[in-house]
Amino acid sequence: MERNKKRVFSGIQPSGDLHLGNYVGAIKQWVALQDEYECIFSIVDLHAITVPYDPALLKERIRRLAALYLACGIDPQKAVVFVQSHNPDHPVLAWLLDCVASMGQLRRMTQYKAKAEKLKEKVTVGLFNYPALMAADILLYQTDVVPVGEDQKQHVELTRDLAEKFNARFGETFKLPEVKILQVGARVMSLQNPSKKMSKSAEDPNGTIDLLDSPEEIVRKVKSAVTDSGREIVFDRENKPGISNLLAIYANLSGKKIEKLEEEYQGKGYGEFKTDLADLIVETLRPIQERYQKIRKEEDYLESLFQEGLRKVKPISEATLKKVYERMGLG
Ligand code: AMP
Ligand code: TRP
Repeated sequence: MERNKKRVFSGIQPSGDLHLGNYVGAIKQWVALQDEYECIFSIVDLHAITVPYDPALLKERIRRLAALYLACGIDPQKAVVFVQSHNPDHPVLAWLLDCVASMGQLRRMTQYKAKAEKLKEKVTVGLFNYPALMAADILLYQTDVVPVGEDQKQHVELTRDLAEKFNARFGETFKLPEVKILQVGARVMSLQNPSKKMSKSAEDPNGTIDLLDSPEEIVRKVKSAVTDSGREIVFDRENKPGISNLLAIYANLSGKKIEKLEEEYQGKGYGEFKTDLADLIVETLRPIQERYQKIRKEEDYLESLFQEGLRKVKPISEATLKKVYERMGLG
């Protein structure tokens, strides 16, 4: 690939279908960056196996996720899409970075701590090691910018720390990536519990809007979203976390400023606001769902997309890995 543009790398785990949080926090940003940057978007299946999962479902989930990337507007003419496990350079560099990272550095990762607390004795070494694999994903491609949701910020910071540590010890090798996080929508919260982020694994599925939910489901979930005491539609994360979350989603999907929405809904109640928001979500997702159904009918297309993706990324990762081997005195 030509290197006259800055490079973007990001990925999502195929651990379930995408939800509105993934769309607003990550994918919408990706779509917007495609023209200006050279983009590489991965389906990070090696990350998805760090927690208990069903091998019989994984292959299908990878294809569903790829189809969702495209349906959301990732354009294979502009961006590269590939499956992480197709390129073994990722786990190789992760191992090499493991020998640079300290236990203390990885132990500080808040996502690890939260997941480990839930999984108890089911915690794997892979889960602990997850951030080193993510750092490998990013550093293999000498990435400039990593667009993610707020929850991944700490992992990108660790990636920078590992790159700096490596460069200092073995000589200049890796570019230091910048994290890119939205101002509004970087952290979409559960509709049922606005103190928790919207997630695939949430205990209450009514709090998560799946990108493939039917219009009826979307309306039902928005209408039953937790709101706060009082009637005013104002943004106040502390005292009105429920309505603030809905306002942030509304602002992101409509492109309107939050203050503008507060003005528009002055004197109006939660009911009207929720009806409009549900409509907006349904209309945003309708074309995505239509494209998704079309893409899923063409199985061969995704296979050729993955092959093409691997063909494009492999020379880049190989060149980095070769340099790393040399610097580390291997081979
Ligand atoms: P994951 O589903 O954990 O693989 O996350 C994929 C991408 O979506 C990452 O960039 C996350 O930061 C982002 N993301 C996940 N959940 C949310 C959320 N609730 N709000 C905003 N971004 C999110
Ligand atoms: N850990 C990220 C998440 O759960 C997914 C991911 C893996 C990623 N490798 C990455 C994101 C590299 C950005 C860059 O969301």
